[in-house]
Amino acid sequence: MTNKKTLTMDKIVSLCKRRGFVFPGSEIYGGMANSWDYGPYGTELKNNIAKTWWKTFVQKRDDMIGLDSAIITNPKVWVASGHVAGFNDPLVDCKKCKIRHRGDKLLEGKIGVEETTKIKLEEIGAKMNELKIPCPDCGAVDWTDARKFNLLFETQIGVLADAKNIAYLRGETAQGIFINFKNILNTMRPKIPFGIAQVGKAFRNEITPGNFIFRTREFEQMEIEYFIEPPKKEKDWRGPFENWQNEIKRFFKEDLGLSDENMRWRRHDDNERSFYSKDTYDVEYNFPSLGWGELHGFAYRTDYDLSQHIKHSGADLTYVDEKGNKYVPHCIEPSFGLTRTLLAVLAEVYMEETIKDTNGKEEVRTVMKFKPELAPIKIAVFPLVKNKPELVAKARETYESLKPFYMCEFDDNGNIGKRYRRQDEIGTPYCITVDYDTLEKGDVTVRDRDTMKQDRVKIEELKSYFADKGLTIC
Ligand code: GAP
Repeated sequence: MTNKKTLTMDKIVSLCKRRGFVFPGSEIYGGMANSWDYGPYGTELKNNIAKTWWKTFVQKRDDMIGLDSAIITNPKVWVASGHVAGFNDPLVDCKKCKIRHRGDKLLEGKIGVEETTKIKLEEIGAKMNELKIPCPDCGAVDWTDARKFNLLFETQIGVLADAKNIAYLRGETAQGIFINFKNILNTMRPKIPFGIAQVGKAFRNEITPGNFIFRTREFEQMEIEYFIEPPKKEKDWRGPFENWQNEIKRFFKEDLGLSDENMRWRRHDDNERSFYSKDTYDVEYNFPSLGWGELHGFAYRTDYDLSQHIKHSGADLTYVDEKGNKYVPHCIEPSFGLTRTLLAVLAEVYMEETIKDTNGKEEVRTVMKFKPELAPIKIAVFPLVKNKPELVAKARETYESLKPFYMCEFDDNGNIGKRYRRQDEIGTPYCITVDYDTLEKGDVTVRDRDTMKQDRVKIEELKSYFADKGLTIC
């Protein structure tokens, strides 16, 4: 079994490239720093995580509604949300090599998040010099004062490049939810408490992206805004807040398989928390090579966002309850990073196991132990050898019979051992082999990824066999 302490980000990056999960972006043009493309298995995995999330938080609940809003919006949205004025990172320049870095992140590496949040913007550069934090690029300790750098991605609408035509790619999916609040009320007539969910791309002009897909300029989020009545007492928001905390914990553990020892909830103190929030947590994951990093943001945001949009747009974003009480709802925000969650899932399930081959020789197999619902391919089907047309035809027939129900793959390359290794590396829970006995008896071998045990199963019973194993049709 892999010692998780020896698992490195490099191992994950290498497997992702080798097996078609994630490729370096624009590779044939020499690449583009920190840009990544999702390959066939990465796409399946990402879709499966998003589908699981949607099923848990939208499909199975009566109080949740889905949405898919635009990426390019009226720029006033981002003025109202506070992103134009306040969505800033503190940047410092190394005076020697002139390379720019996030001062707060370098400080966090030295003194931790909590101490860093106590340091004001104008003190960051001096503190870094005092603590002798070296430049990651040239090793010098010679920092400028910190300056603010806005993370919103600007773009130009139409052909004329002037200030009037500036728009922003959305910096979070959440604002698309707030600006559609009225549309949702008018069309769906939901009763408070209720929530709106969406999955989609977000863009941030991160100055120090990196650690593979952990921090990128283009990424995907899965966000929820859960609206509640304005609380009269703390317990009125604490109740739903804690319910959400339990739901999020359950989702990470049971639906995605992330283990307790790799997760922690870190509460923001008064310095770190936004002024309008009453309570905020970062849910952190212990990423290989990187250590604890934010996986999920969770906050009670009061009525800040809707009130800002009321002020800036003039629209009526109030809610009227059954008794005729009219108010601006408050909101609890569980904010998931889809691509960052994918990285956590990859890190969690990556295993190296020493096993014995058929001749008793020891070898190491890399196996991705995804929960079956998340696995990119559920079932692989092989003919024992590729040069026996009867075996290939029977294997194809078996594959075709399962394909409408499960994501399947047909493989007749190399020997069986190599095919198993490949399917282990992409995390396929079941491999079916069609052999000579199949032609006589109509049964096949089904090999379990985790136990490597094999069962003989009649072809016509395969669907009920997989149903008994809990494999869901998708
Ligand atoms: N609406 C609240 C919001 O966007 P956030 O903490 O800035 O909060 C939420 O982002 C989540 O989005 C993070 O916990 C992380 O998973 C993901 N995320 C944020 N910036 C990211 C980036 N540059 N690359 C990848 N994922 C990112």
